[in-house]
Amino acid sequence: MTQEKVLALLKAGPEAYHSGQSMSRALGVSRAAVWKAVECLRNEGYWIDSVPNRGYCLKAEPDLLRAGALSNELEGCRVGGTLVCLPTVDSTNNELKRRAAEAPDGLAVLADEQTGGRGRRGKSFQSPRGQGIYLSVLLRPDCPLAELSALTAWIAVAVCEGIREACGAEAEIKWTNDVLLGGKKLCGILTELEIEAESGLLRHVIAGIGVNVGQTAEDFGPELSPVATSLALAMGHTVRRTELAACLLRALDRMYAAFPTEKERYLAEYRRRCVTTGRNVLLLRGDARRPAFAEAVEDDFSLRVLFPDGHRESITAGEVSVRGQMGYI
Ligand code: BTN
Repeated sequence: MTQEKVLALLKAGPEAYHSGQSMSRALGVSRAAVWKAVECLRNEGYWIDSVPNRGYCLKAEPDLLRAGALSNELEGCRVGGTLVCLPTVDSTNNELKRRAAEAPDGLAVLADEQTGGRGRRGKSFQSPRGQGIYLSVLLRPDCPLAELSALTAWIAVAVCEGIREACGAEAEIKWTNDVLLGGKKLCGILTELEIEAESGLLRHVIAGIGVNVGQTAEDFGPELSPVATSLALAMGHTVRRTELAACLLRALDRMYAAFPTEKERYLAEYRRRCVTTGRNVLLLRGDARRPAFAEAVEDDFSLRVLFPDGHRESITAGEVSVRGQMGYI
């Protein structure tokens, strides 16, 4: 814990020297504890200069996801204002579920690696160490249950905005909530709800977000590489996960504050980024496949499709998933 606080303090005044005494006073710990924390941080790759009579200065830092590296960026945020960073976990959604009863609204769990990352429809989500953002946030939105089906679409918009803020990339959305870059999947979102059986009231929502950051085509393997991408692959350069995590959490915080009142903005942004509309698609329900033309995203974020026999339906994500007739999109 002292390490996280020492790191946050050094990051709050980058390029500045902080004396051991001022740091021990600010943190309410001994100078020896400050020195020990600095040594531990150095061992993890932080370049912390020390000059007699001046103190410590953070010169460079590795791209490690840790609370001390992110807390200054998330001051005043409900989402991510309380943050748990873990080196490894089965699934950040599972971890948040285990903590949910005691957790504050907006608690975020970030992991460097997931050993049992989960996707939608029982699929697994590859989560190799140090290559991605594996993030879950706990939300307790105050709205009727019927409005919640749209939340996952709002989250997709927030993820796109976080990615743009972090590295300038303009991601797209494949209905309902796959985030794409260059036509390939960059990020998956798994939103899970817990509802109280007796009252039917919402207990909480856990939104899990997995962004591929550093993988190469070889990392994805022959099955995934035709349809999956990472920021490094799509942009041609590395993107720091620390910056990306902070931008994603801030975008999620803005989204949560706006939900559900600022629907027009999120709906317009969703429609602007959605690549599914205007295409021939296959609707997948169990083993059944039905061709259709995706016409539009409706006001409730459902997808209006036109079937070859001329009739139209508005489909929701719970019912079917959508594939392009010629491939992934
Ligand atoms: C999908 O594409 O089907 C959804 C993938 C969601 C992956 C994220 S990674 C963080 C969180 N923890 C999980 O186990 N899954 C989500």
